[in-house]
Order: sequence, then C-alpha cells, then structure tokens
Amino acid sequence: MVDELSERNIIITAALPYAYDDLHLGHIASTHLPPDILYRYLKLNGASAIQVCASDDFGTPILIAAEKKGRRPSECVSEWNSRFKADLERLGIVYDTFDRTSSAENIEMAQRFFTRLYEGGYIFTSDVSQFFCENDRKFLPDRYVKGRCPHCGAEDQYSDACENCGRTLQPGEVLDPKCAICGRPPVMRSSEHYFFKLSAFAERLNDWLKGNSDLQPDAKNYVLNWIKDGLQDWDVTRDISWGVPVPLKEAEGKVLYGWFDNHLCYITAALKAAGRSGDEGRRYWNESRVYHFIGKDIVYHHYLFLPSMRLGEGEYKLPDLIPARGHLLLLGKKISRSKRWMITVRDFLDSFPPDYLRFYLTRIVPYDQSDANFDLQEFADKINNELVANIGNFVYRTLVFVKRENGGVVPSPDVPGEDEKHVMDELEGATLETGKLIEQGHYDRALRRVLDFATECNRYFQRKAPWENVKERPTTLYYSCNLVAGLATLLGPFLPFSSEEIREQLGLDAPTREEKWASASELQVEPGRTIGEPSPIFRKVEATDLGKVRVLLG
Ligand code: 2FM
Ligand code: ZN
Repeated sequence: MVDELSERNIIITAALPYAYDDLHLGHIASTHLPPDILYRYLKLNGASAIQVCASDDFGTPILIAAEKKGRRPSECVSEWNSRFKADLERLGIVYDTFDRTSSAENIEMAQRFFTRLYEGGYIFTSDVSQFFCENDRKFLPDRYVKGRCPHCGAEDQYSDACENCGRTLQPGEVLDPKCAICGRPPVMRSSEHYFFKLSAFAERLNDWLKGNSDLQPDAKNYVLNWIKDGLQDWDVTRDISWGVPVPLKEAEGKVLYGWFDNHLCYITAALKAAGRSGDEGRRYWNESRVYHFIGKDIVYHHYLFLPSMRLGEGEYKLPDLIPARGHLLLLGKKISRSKRWMITVRDFLDSFPPDYLRFYLTRIVPYDQSDANFDLQEFADKINNELVANIGNFVYRTLVFVKRENGGVVPSPDVPGEDEKHVMDELEGATLETGKLIEQGHYDRALRRVLDFATECNRYFQRKAPWENVKERPTTLYYSCNLVAGLATLLGPFLPFSSEEIREQLGLDAPTREEKWASASELQVEPGRTIGEPSPIFRKVEATDLGKVRVLLG
C-alpha cells in the first residue's frame, strides 16, 4: 500500500473544533492523534502528504459565548484559533495549514458551493416556524432557547439537543422554552429558510457507499440503514448575524448554517497548504487521496451531508476514507462540557509529557466505533510497565553500558551469531508488520507490535549478559545500539519527542534519507561512533502526579 500511497498526494484532515472552548482529551483521542500517526508514518516513507485542520468559527454556540463576554465573535474565534494551534503543537501535532472557517477563502468557497447547488436545483425555500424573542427582537435558533427535554424531562437543555439523554430536538419541541439571552418566553414566528435537497442524493450515496470497500464497514452499514429509512432535507440557513452571508439578494440578513461551511474548510485549508487555487486547486484535490478523520458523533454529517454537497456541486471528489472512532469516556463517564467533566489538553500537558498522552491514547483507542475509557490508574500502569520498564529500560541500559564500559564509543562487532540474526529478523518483522498495521488504521495494534519488539530487545540483552560475557560484549553492545536506533524509528509516528531524544542520545542526526521507515531494520549505527549523554527517556508516573489531574475533575 505504501507504494501505491507514495505515488499520489494524500490529503489528511481532522474534524474542526468549535471555537468556543478548550480542546480536551476526547478531541485528541478520536480526531487529532490518529491522523498525526498516519501523517508522520507517510512522511517517513517519503510520501507526499499534507495534514490540515481549522477552527470551526460560525454558529450559535460561538455567537452566544462571545455575547456573554460582551465581545465581538470575530475577536474571540481568532483567540481560540491561536490557542488550539498552541495546544496541538505542544502535543507534536502540527498542521500544514490550520485555517479558520471564517477565513475569506472559506467564505468564498462556501458561497461558491451555495450558488452552484442553487443553480443546480438542489436548494429550495420553505417557511419554517422559529422561536422569536420579542424583547430582543431576534429569531432564536438552536442554542438561543433553553427548556425542558420532552423525552427525559431534564431542565435547562438547549432547544436543539438534550445533553442528558442525547436526543436531537426539532425546533419547537422543547418544553417551557426561554430565551437564552433575556430569559423571557419566546413566541413562534415564521421565517423563510433555504433547504438543501439531501433526499435527492439517496441513490448516489448508496452506490458510493456500496462501491467503496475501504470505508469502515460498521459506519457504512448504519449509514446505509439511515438512507433506507429516508433522508430529510436540511435547513441550511439561520437568522443570525454570525455566519457566511447567503449569496442571494433576497436573502438579506440570513447566513449559512455552520455545517454548510465547516467541512468545506477541509478543501480550503488543503488548497492553501498546497499553494493551489482555481482549476489547479481542483485538479490537485481530485488527483489526491482524501482522508477525513472524525469522531463517531459526526458520522451522519460526513457520510451523508458532506458527500451530497460535493456531488451536487460537482467539482471536488468525495473522500476515499472517513475513519471514525468512538468517544473517550473519562473514568467511565461521558465527557461533558456543561458539567465540566473533562480534562483539557492544556491542563494535562502541565502535568505530563506529550508523549505520555500520545502513548496511552494510542494504546486504548481501537479502529472502530467502540468507546475507550481514560482511566488514571491504567494510564500510570501503562506508562510505568510498558514505556518505562520495557522501552525506556532497554534504551537506558544499552547506552549506559556503552558509556561506562566502552568510553561512550560504539564497539566493533564480531561476526553475528544466532542471537543477533534472530533479533535482527525480529526487527525486520516488526518494521513490516507495524507499517502494515498503520496503513490499515490499527494504530493501537501497531504500537503493541513495537512494544512486543522492545520485549525481544530486552530478552536479547539479558541473554547476552554483557556484564559477565566480556568476550561477546562488543558484539552485544553494537547490536543493542542498532536495536535502539531501530526502536527510535518505529516509535517516530507515535512518540515523536522521545524518538528524537533517543536518536540524540545515540548521537545520530535527524535522518535525511527518504526511505526512513524501512531503514528501521538496517544497521544505522556504525562502530566507532561516539554516543551522546545517556539519561532516562521516561520517568515513572507517581501517585502524586495523578493527584494533580484528579483535582482538575473537582
Ligand atoms: O462537531 C464538531 O465539533 C464540529 N465542529 C466538527 C466539524 S468537522 C467539519 F466537518 F468541519
Ligand atoms: Zn432529554
């Protein structure tokens, strides 16, 4: 697959975070970390890949958050955009472009899509009954109204969804409605809205889903069932001031719904990253492989709405893959912003190194839609038993031995014996299999494979016992240094900071060759090289460290 992948450009996108609250661990687990592993792996293979994301700037939650602070939404979203970038960079996740859905280029893209869909007959108007506040003199879409959930009776729920029972609510359904700005009960008023004819795409969507064997089977199957049940046309306009203006004279004061423009920013950001526009940009997009990484809560939007808009507009190809992963639970409970049951990336990284988070999340998140659970004790155990005691132990032991017993110089080996042949075969097997698992999307299993290999490395060192077997010591140390270098390469996509630190301690420069992944199984460290200063790469997680995170949960 790598051969096939490296022939074409690959565009990788991560779902866009709403610009009104901090990134939390759930965002990282399903949406930002998995694509980064693939991206780093592809780059290590010399493939031409770009990775893009953006802040999701428009919509009622963002406008309400800004109004509450008495600030302009444009100012707030720009601050969130910088904050997201900073948090992600701390985690080693760097996008070629981290755009914003409110950028001039994306507004133009969204208006172009609207116009072409309108001209193609895929947009129609219909009067809809909307909440209206006579005190504030405005329509109150979605989150502008709060009330009681008609399904479970939970109070203080937004009019579009109940956080307690998870149901989506239709306009007018919420009980005892109150304006979220002034608290007065709203009235119902009619307003003309623009609808996207999603129902017109049922057959084409069906064919696309059935004809694409790369798409995840579980997601595909329930999307096919939704199509069978009948698709509802989408109301794609809102009567608010913050959004992409509908590009029609008669639609003065109306903006596009956030889900109309946000996914178009995948295209906008990719074209920016590639430095292409117009026809050249469209060619670039259409000749690339396109992967959209998402969490399972937005499967509907990405498997139905997004492809239909592209089909209707007609200029940009559909995605090749939409890898969706499940939710991250926190200590067994659903993450909730309103209940503040969440750990922000920022807070977590104030207590632990970024690779610890990358390691644990990769280990527990599978390539399917089942939920993973973030458990603090399990986090500590995995770091201590797998990172510190397995990988860290082998690296440190080897390097300290070279430093102490051979003056920091990698010794010259004898002819390799059976043990050396065996462990080098293991390295080759680990390189091939880990690569294959990454290509298949199984990052959890791929990392497990690297750990199994590290266990083999420890076994080799133990068996060769260089502290007593002095005759074979040069050979053992030479091969051990090369196994350390191999491990550093295999860890690259998962733990970029540690991988680099290991290379530094080995005295290796950043790799310059194109085929760097395959070079993992070659002898990268030559005899006579002087290594750097050994120090433990990983430090144990203590109970007191966990205490700092527990406090964050109140
Ligand atoms: O659900 C969300 O958090 C949205 N902001 C995701 C948008 S992804 C996209 F398609 F733009
Ligand atoms: Zn409810």
